[in-house]
Amino acid sequence: MEPLLEVKNLMTHFFTESGVVEALDGIELTVYPKESVGVVGESGCGKTQTAYSILRILAQNGQIVDGEIFYKGQDLVTLPESEMRNIRGKEIAMIFQDPMTSLNPVIRIADQMIEVIAIHRDVSANEARELAIDALTAVGISEADKRIDEYPHKFSGGMRQRILIARAIALQPSLLIADEPTTALDVTIQAQVLEIFKDMREKYDLAMMLITHNLGVVAELTERVHIFYGGRVAEVGTTFDIFTKPMHPYTIALLESIPSLDVDKGRLATIPGSVPQLINPPQGCRFHPRCRYAKEICSKDRPAMEEKVPGRFVACHFWEEVEISDLAEQVIGLKKNDIKKPK
Ligand SMILES: Nc1ncnc2c1ncn2[C@@H]1O[C@H](COP(=O)(O)OP(=O)(O)OP(=O)(O)O)[C@@H](O)[C@H]1O
Ligand code: SF4
Ligand SMILES: [Mg+2]
Repeated sequence: MEPLLEVKNLMTHFFTESGVVEALDGIELTVYPKESVGVVGESGCGKTQTAYSILRILAQNGQIVDGEIFYKGQDLVTLPESEMRNIRGKEIAMIFQDPMTSLNPVIRIADQMIEVIAIHRDVSANEARELAIDALTAVGISEADKRIDEYPHKFSGGMRQRILIARAIALQPSLLIADEPTTALDVTIQAQVLEIFKDMREKYDLAMMLITHNLGVVAELTERVHIFYGGRVAEVGTTFDIFTKPMHPYTIALLESIPSLDVDKGRLATIPGSVPQLINPPQGCRFHPRCRYAKEICSKDRPAMEEKVPGRFVACHFWEEVEISDLAEQVIGLKKNDIKKPK
């Protein structure tokens, strides 16, 4: 099957007064039609900037300096801006990291949905209103025909996130990018919102790129995972394989940190050392200053991303020596039943 999205060797840099931030340094990522793919890694590893690069909505000082982003076969990096406007929303919709600022508090929900639906789906304002009400109903907003005329502040955080999901799916995109869609919500609401994502995917045959710190969310919602580290991809595989047979030292460290994730929202406190600075990143393997398997070559040569077993890509010089630690083993034991089995 042809991938829906194929990101190849993506390099995105930011130009700042203190130097060039090599935020993305050769990202490789694929999403197949109707597939749900997780993107996981610590704060600052490049998850959001990968999404922004795909949609070409980088900050002014950011630039894609190399690489390709094939979407349905065409390279978004070189696509004229006028054509990018047809991609954003209509083909690839995004739910942003901060749901509280994604809706304008002083504009009625209807006015934040109808116009964009009318433009992207080429329908009248009345038809767009009906489509918006249908989408709001689909995400569990009762009396949507009345509530659509209210202002966002009348809705709780969880409800606002539902509205953002409704707004995204009403455009009938082929790919939905959701950036930390549940992080800002409290735990019971998180579970409800996750259920909505599951329903929407089934109902609308959506492909999804789910960006998150939360490995529990990934286990429940995705079929395949890309583990990011320091602007690069460390490991790719099915969610089941990544969680039951991690091959990259960083993935193992991430698994070990799951218990702390439950306590301290989103911070992976148990991995020793700190996330790399991307102005002067470590040479060789960017994980080497924190890696318990590191040898001399790791600080000199960048490990290539290679398919070590079918469907399984790992960037590590010593992947064959890596063993699953007792702690990671315990976490896997606890989580095994939650992990989505491959079809
Ligand atoms: N406008 C900018 N100027 C300079 N550096 C930037 C800019 N925007 C992002 N960066 C840097 O790019 C890197 C990747 O950032 P990104 O937002 O993709 O991280 P993330 O993985 O989404 O993290 P989080 O989990 O905290 O959301 C970070 O080091 C960040 O500081
Ligand atoms: S290449 Fe070396 S430093 Fe990097 S993850 Fe593998 S063993 Fe660790
Ligand atoms: Mg982010």
